[in-house]
Amino acid sequence: MVRKMDRVIKSQKLLIDGKWVDSVSGKLFRTINPATEEEITTVAEGDKEDIDLAVAAARKAFEKGPWRKIDARDRGLILLKIMELVGENRDELAWLDTVDNGKPISETTNVDLPLAIDCLLYYAGWTDKIHGETIPVRGEFFNYTIREPVGVVGQIIPWNFPLLMAVWKIAPALACGNTVVLKPAEQTPLSALKFGEICQEAGLPDGVLNIVPGYGPTAGAALAAHMDVDKVAFTGENTTGRLVMRAAAGNLKRISLELGGKSPNIVFADSDLDSAVNGAMTGIFFNQGEVCCAGSRLFLEKKIHDEFLEKLSDRANRLSVGDPQDPNTQMGAQVSKEQFDKILSYIDSGKQEGAKIVTGGERSGNKGYFVKPTIFDEVNNTMKIAKEEIFGPVVSAIAFEDLDEMVKQSNGSPYGLAAAVWTRDISKAHKLARELKAGTIWMNTYNMFDAASPFGGYKQSGFGRELGMHSLELYTQVKSVWVNLGI
Ligand code: NAI
Ligand code: MG
Repeated sequence: MVRKMDRVIKSQKLLIDGKWVDSVSGKLFRTINPATEEEITTVAEGDKEDIDLAVAAARKAFEKGPWRKIDARDRGLILLKIMELVGENRDELAWLDTVDNGKPISETTNVDLPLAIDCLLYYAGWTDKIHGETIPVRGEFFNYTIREPVGVVGQIIPWNFPLLMAVWKIAPALACGNTVVLKPAEQTPLSALKFGEICQEAGLPDGVLNIVPGYGPTAGAALAAHMDVDKVAFTGENTTGRLVMRAAAGNLKRISLELGGKSPNIVFADSDLDSAVNGAMTGIFFNQGEVCCAGSRLFLEKKIHDEFLEKLSDRANRLSVGDPQDPNTQMGAQVSKEQFDKILSYIDSGKQEGAKIVTGGERSGNKGYFVKPTIFDEVNNTMKIAKEEIFGPVVSAIAFEDLDEMVKQSNGSPYGLAAAVWTRDISKAHKLARELKAGTIWMNTYNMFDAASPFGGYKQSGFGRELGMHSLELYTQVKSVWVNLGI
């Protein structure tokens, strides 16, 4: 079912100070194609010593290099050049994420790449619009503020949207004049390395972007704890987020965390049911469910519960699951054996706790980490499958009658990343938008993103907002300057 790889990738190195280098230890790690379980290539494995070198390079580039000081608009031009080259290399980048992550080529091509390109365009436009204020203070003083870059930024990203997560973090950091050390996820380092090549070709000065692939507890932890890193931006699991937060305490570096979710997708009887079915499909099966804001808790108003699930399972059964490189594939492989096993064990737990399988509930095929689109019904909000982030194509349907009780359950999660409401009643929708504790609310849609619109979590889904003008807050600091006019 899964076609053989039709391209060859050379061994990959670390990007430090504008040079491609081996790791200090000389170690390599394997990156696997989850659709075939075969090795794609080996990559230099960064560890603490490599992070030290990368941070030193980023520090030098920040303090001495031109990046922070060049005309802001010229920074924008380099970001635009990077955007242009990402566009020229879009097929290769899409293919790299597809073989490395297992997601369908139609999605990397039509979702990840356009969003990454748009994000670069958006932040290229901000470079010369980041400015301070003049402030009417008391007395004979002139007071103004300057918005300056934070300095050396460490960025630790996950594997679910490898290139896009890199760009979400790198583009605003560079636009604000920072220098960066990026640690890609060990499962999916390839597109970030290609992006590093592109940045060099675009003329980004040496040391401004350093890329150190490696494992979390080694390279990742060293970056989070580094005493000369001014800020860490992290996306990933909650337990890792806590470790990053503790590690950051050493030099009190600022942090932003984008963590997990267990987002409620709420369908009322007065909604356009077919659109809501589409939304529920996208909400849980897009990217094999490996989405932090996946609509994994599906609250269905009792009156339409049966009809809705019938339509949804019919659609789920017709999803084409298989070879990620086939343009017609709609759902690919889970990223790794670890993730595959984790999802199957959650499915077992759902069965054991008495939830009813409507469709799916097992692996798909016998090679590659494919899981069938899975729908559980008769789920209680207190079951493990309704409480914990599964990060797979597994949705839990929960029927409701009473609005207040449903809101209580929707908010009854330590997470608060996103929520969606499907209804034709606009007052109800807007009222719920206020009551739901989540960083993003979708009304009659799901999984909408735009480089200009902020994204981030309430509660234990993290803090700090990426994208939009809000990302500038993460990557700048404000300096207040006083001038005595009385002398
Ligand atoms: P993870 O949080 O361990 O990995 C994310 C990134 O953090 C990777 O680059 C990893 O190398 C790094 N990392 C790991 N340990 C670290 C440490 N001690 N210090 C610094 N960096 C560290 O996530 P993992 O283990 O890949 O996935 C496990 C679960 O996490 C998934 O099943 C899913 O539930 C959740 N997850 C959530 C994501 C999100 O977007 N919110 C993304 C990826 C995973
Ligand atoms: Mg982990």
